Amino acid sequence: MKRVLVTGGAGFIGVNFIRHVLAHTGLDVVVLDKLTYAGNLSSLARLPAHRLRFVHGDIADAELVDTLFSDIDTVVHFAAESHNDNGLDKPRPFVDTNIVGTFTLLEAARNHDVRFHHVSTDEVFGELNLDDPTRFTEESALDPSSPYSATKAGSDLLVKAWARSFGVRATVSNCSNNYGPYQHVEKFIPRQITNVLRGKRPRVFGTGVNVRDWLHAEDHASAVLAILREGQIGRRYLVGGVGEVDNRTVVELILRLMGERPDAYDLVADRPGHDLRYAIDSSRLRTELGWSPRYSDFEAGLASTIRWYREHESWWGDAKERVEAFYAERGQ
Ligand code: NAD
Ligand code: DAU
Repeated sequence: MKRVLVTGGAGFIGVNFIRHVLAHTGLDVVVLDKLTYAGNLSSLARLPAHRLRFVHGDIADAELVDTLFSDIDTVVHFAAESHNDNGLDKPRPFVDTNIVGTFTLLEAARNHDVRFHHVSTDEVFGELNLDDPTRFTEESALDPSSPYSATKAGSDLLVKAWARSFGVRATVSNCSNNYGPYQHVEKFIPRQITNVLRGKRPRVFGTGVNVRDWLHAEDHASAVLAILREGQIGRRYLVGGVGEVDNRTVVELILRLMGERPDAYDLVADRPGHDLRYAIDSSRLRTELGWSPRYSDFEAGLASTIRWYREHESWWGDAKERVEAFYAERGQ
């Protein structure tokens, strides 16, 4: 492994992955990113130019993708339409990027015998009940609920089929909810932090009992790198956080860490089809590959994330107005 193509490398987790790879390996990185509303080139500024090349383009552009694959040995596929509320509003780009885009990359991987790592989500397994003692494992059945998770599940199945039918050297990881620096302000944690920074009350969907398993994006990055280095071809790995927390608890913690009253938030209209709970059993990754998260203290990780948003208003300011206008139309 010498030169890695990172699709979606100008997005939240892609940026955290590239920073991790440049700091901890000698690999060169080529980024392919369409720079949708979610991509931000400034997140890649001041990184070593001799090890990082940026290509502006669409993963569904077969000609471009084929050219890029002739010059790399590995691809880590992050590019996606990633936000559930956008998928409920306009699903088409989710099909185009998550399904057709992944298909296009797989065809190029097949033609050039490139090692393929597909970054996916725990949402492909659907929801768990709040009182269900089980967690998702590598054997859980795909049972997605939303346009976003259905298109991600579709892409997981394409990877499985291309590995089995055409021998593409592929692995898949399904990760829980990420947080950390460079996350778009449409997502739950940065939306609430930036609300407080703007003097607005946080907005929690429904009754706020929904549970997510939060993982710092740098820990997701180290997990993907471990899979690239030592993962078994053809395998799926679940990447999990440090624990399950309901949305009310998260927002109350953010308010407390930001010096506000913990009840200073509003419950607003629920997300249609809102999954109740996700929970991950990441034993395979921990025992087989020896991975463990560095940010095992969620409160400390959240405090450093709050600091980052406080210090980088120029990075998120423009997007904030657009996101709040979108949610205002939906009573959220
Ligand atoms: P993001 O929305 O922040 O970034 C997506 C990036 O992909 C952007 O830079 C965007 O410009 C780019 N992109 C979108 N369509 C493209 C296309 N057609 N061609 C090229 N580039 C395109 O997403 P994220 O939160 O960083 O998620 C990255 C990946 O990780 C996704 O595949 C997502 O499903 C998966 N994932 C995310 C989380 C999470 O909590 N955010 C958790 C588990 C898995
Ligand atoms: O589980 C992994 C997934 O996590 C990834 O695959 C997705 O790409 C990523 O967006 C995330 O999906 P969620 O839908 O769980 O994340 P989101 O940040 O949108 O919402 C987290 C929870 O917070 C969810 O229960 C909805 C709720 N929420 C969200 C927003 C934006 C609110 O209560 N208020 C909000 O303003």
